[in-house]
Amino acid sequence: MSVNVSNLLYLITIVTFVLALRFLSSPAHARRGNQIGALGMLVAIVVTWVKTGGTSWWALAIGMLIGGGFGAVAARKVKMTAMPQMVALFNGVGGGAAALISLAELHRILPEPGAPKVDISLAIVLSALIGSISFAGSMVAFAKLQELIHGRPITYPGQQFGNGGLFLAALALGIALVAGVQDEWLLWGLTGGAALFGILFVLPIGGADMPVVISLLNAFTGLAAAATGFELENNVLIVSGMLVGASGTLLTLLMGRAMNRSVANVLFGAFGQLTAEAAAAAAGAAAGTVRSASAEDVAVMLAYAHKVVFVPGYGLAVAQAQHDVRQLADLLEERGVEVSYAIHPVAGRMPGHMNVLLAEANVPYPQLKEMEDANPEFARTDVAVVVGANDVVNPDARSNQGSPIYGMPILNVDEAQTVVVLKRSMNPGFAGIENPLFYNPKTVMLFGDAKESITKLIQDVKAL
Ligand code: TAP
Repeated sequence: MSVNVSNLLYLITIVTFVLALRFLSSPAHARRGNQIGALGMLVAIVVTWVKTGGTSWWALAIGMLIGGGFGAVAARKVKMTAMPQMVALFNGVGGGAAALISLAELHRILPEPGAPKVDISLAIVLSALIGSISFAGSMVAFAKLQELIHGRPITYPGQQFGNGGLFLAALALGIALVAGVQDEWLLWGLTGGAALFGILFVLPIGGADMPVVISLLNAFTGLAAAATGFELENNVLIVSGMLVGASGTLLTLLMGRAMNRSVANVLFGAFGQLTAEAAAAAAGAAAGTVRSASAEDVAVMLAYAHKVVFVPGYGLAVAQAQHDVRQLADLLEERGVEVSYAIHPVAGRMPGHMNVLLAEANVPYPQLKEMEDANPEFARTDVAVVVGANDVVNPDARSNQGSPIYGMPILNVDEAQTVVVLKRSMNPGFAGIENPLFYNPKTVMLFGDAKESITKLIQDVKAL
């Protein structure tokens, strides 16, 4: 295949990747985006294979069968609520692949002892360094989200200093390689040091921040892939790596902004550690009484309300209650109640989590209100129904300065006349902190699995 033809096909591939990202921006056409991206990837693989001589087709086929088979089974079997850890795993192996390619490439180009030296590109060092950090960090993020290890931040004195030293040591090995110390073991040392750094870098970050960390590590994997592209002189890998790097970085910044926290605070703030005063303030607020209600009582409140706002959170995804919520909302609308849904940008465990769930239940788009539009409406809302949300409606974010979530914009459900909270227990949310909303005299708790509670509400509203 001539260079011109392969470059043209690569260009087409790059356009499909950009289009895929464009389509992925809304649940309505995300499926199409995935298909376009997959087609582009197939073209890229075939062109690269033909370009490099078209040999070892069986090795390529075995790799694609194993990888593709694993991906297909995971995509079908893994629950929506476990998507973040699946993304962490997939992202991590991307980084690991970039690091392995560097090791193989260096082994290939290094001359026999005594032969003249060769140029070792910065790209080999960078893809090994960034790829290993991304691989090891993603595995820790996976383990935290899968609850294989505790989600709490693991901290000890001198931690950031030690981590900084380790990173610099790994970097020094890379500089030595590029500067002409041509020993393969330096790259092995760098890879091992960077992997250890990746582990120690993610350990002090709390489980609640893992989605942000995964997105950042995803950006790292993109950069590692781009460096690998330079290493292998493959344009499509350079561009697709940069696309992943850029989109991962943007997503990280957007999530940080939605929580009103800087990326530095997420990475180095050991989020989830409560200060003594904040703990005392939270305990004080939580010292009141909790009122629980029956489904019959709540059904009456809803049926005779003028305006009801549903506030979905992670518990909606766990319970898979989106279709039931939609059914209840339809029933209420038939009775003349004005219904809408208030969506917090970091509700759930991944960006757009609630939008995807509600789109699955075909909730009419105009009823979905983003936080900025939803908040002014709570003051004229009769009942705010919090379905499995917790941190994103925690008033401590507004008023308890020592709280780890202080400053995070929240949905002001406590401005509604009445707040109904559907959850199974008094357990805290992802951030592991008390929620004074549950002790607010305006609040009633409807304990139980959200799907079961909503099903009962549907029956009771029908019976009225
Ligand atoms: P959470 O604060 O995690 O609260 C979820 C609540 O759902 C829990 O209190 C739980 O209480 C309840 N629940 C779980 N299963 C349930 C079921 N089957 N039926 C009824 N209730 C159930 O969720 P949230 O309010 O959506 O907040 C999201 C959290 O993730 C925030 O801390 C946010 O900062 C963090 N985060 C999210 C993102 C993105 S992009 N979404 C990114 C970074 C961080 P029970 O166990 O008592 O039922």
